[in-house]
Amino acid sequence: MFRLENVATAAYVVAALLFILALAGLSKHETSRAGNTFGIAGMAVALIATIVLAIHGQIEPLGLGLLVVAMIVGALIGLWRAKVVEMTGMPELIALLHSFVGLAAVLVGWNGYLHVEADPGSDEALKLAAEGMSGIHSAEVFIGVFIGAVTFTGSIVANLKLSARIKSAPLMLPGKNLLNIGALIVFAVLTVWFVIDPQLWLLVVVTVLALLLGWHLVASIGGGDMPVVVSMLNSYSGWAAAASGFLLGNDLLIITGALVGSSGAYLSYIMCKAMNRSFISVIAGGFGIENTGAGSDVDYGEHREINAEGVAELLAHANSVIITPGYGMAVAQAQYGVADLTRKLRERGVNVRFGIHPVAGRLPGHMNVLLAEAKVPYDIVLEMDEINDDFDGTDVVLVIGANDTVNPAAAEDPGSPIAGMPVLQVWNADNVIVFKRSMASGYAGVQNPLFFRDNTQMLFGDARDRVNDILAALPAPERV
Ligand code: TAP
Repeated sequence: MFRLENVATAAYVVAALLFILALAGLSKHETSRAGNTFGIAGMAVALIATIVLAIHGQIEPLGLGLLVVAMIVGALIGLWRAKVVEMTGMPELIALLHSFVGLAAVLVGWNGYLHVEADPGSDEALKLAAEGMSGIHSAEVFIGVFIGAVTFTGSIVANLKLSARIKSAPLMLPGKNLLNIGALIVFAVLTVWFVIDPQLWLLVVVTVLALLLGWHLVASIGGGDMPVVVSMLNSYSGWAAAASGFLLGNDLLIITGALVGSSGAYLSYIMCKAMNRSFISVIAGGFGIENTGAGSDVDYGEHREINAEGVAELLAHANSVIITPGYGMAVAQAQYGVADLTRKLRERGVNVRFGIHPVAGRLPGHMNVLLAEAKVPYDIVLEMDEINDDFDGTDVVLVIGANDTVNPAAAEDPGSPIAGMPVLQVWNADNVIVFKRSMASGYAGVQNPLFFRDNTQMLFGDARDRVNDILAALPAPERV
């Protein structure tokens, strides 16, 4: 028999499958566009099915009106933000969006409490009591509010750090690990208490506790580890959504939340491996990492400077060149000039390749996207592990707006905040040219001894201008 709920349930299954296809598509360069389309289609199906179900569930006209207005306003803001956001501003926007998921989970949890625990005579409360599910409902409320609130403030701090509105250096409160563990123990005890006796003050306490914990967890993590934090918050936002799904009895929200939660956790794990960080240490708010402040006061000596003409001369006589781009290339939008330079050098017979660090820039794959946009051939764009042994014997390395990802302190100074993070070993090349505007440190706030090495020369200025200057100064190829 035709029943609207069945159609909606079928639509939810279709949407869930589309989300799985989206994740599969997004995992590869070539299929990422299709992945995105699957995601959009899945979300459209899910939204329509939810609205149809709401209408069928006799939603009051006021509720329906609010739903439609909220959707239109949300869609307009979303379209506007997505249109104006710079590629470099993407991670902070994503962090902000995660905070909305967290906030929504807190509100859904509180709403669940007000309808059931605070109103034991309501139809919903009586139904749950008859089914013997009241305790489960209370646990869902409590856990949902906790995960949501941690995600909310954690994401806000991540947004502030990524947009440089607060310092990216880790907050080092005395006994920070004990504070985190203590908060988790208090949460566990309060959950049991709330399930037995769901009182309002317990929910207030857990909300405040989780808001503080989220703030502290992310504030305690240093700038260099922010990529992992963003994917970790992505994961938390998924679990927060899943928790809301349980409370609202919405299967699609549970499935989608679990997909986001587990894929975010897996991405965090991959990033931790790439950066040689302990997964547990990062999710536990920098557990076991102590900032020794090493390297900050060391006198590395003088740096040498070079001009664009000098670099053009060096390149004209090079056989092999490796370009290692970083965040500065994205800021300067230098990728088009870099692509031109690559083409010109390759025409002269120079072996030009790119070395891409897994966390170069501000989001996973940032450099690959920029280079693909500028039509640099894929086959000369290599991952760090594929190219790291080749710097030795390379004539010239162009470090274009990269800093932390080429910092030898990570490999050589055990006291450095980025110690142990694998980096591109550019210093093994014969000549290293660093494009940047000043001697300022990179995102992790750590001084870079590379700038003071004998084989390094600094090319100061905006990376795009300097690349254009080199293009103009490149001598015409000798005719044979
Ligand atoms: P960074 O260490 O961030 O350094 C970028 C350098 O670019 C800066 O030293 C800056 O120096 C220079 N720069 C900025 N604008 C420039 C311009 N217009 N022209 C020329 N140079 C310019 O870069 P990186 O090596 O790519 O490392 C990425 C860092 O971000 C890592 O610490 C990573 O952990 C973190 N992070 C990464 C991600 C992901 S997923 N990729 C997410 C969040 C954080 P001047 O100011 O002197 O010019």
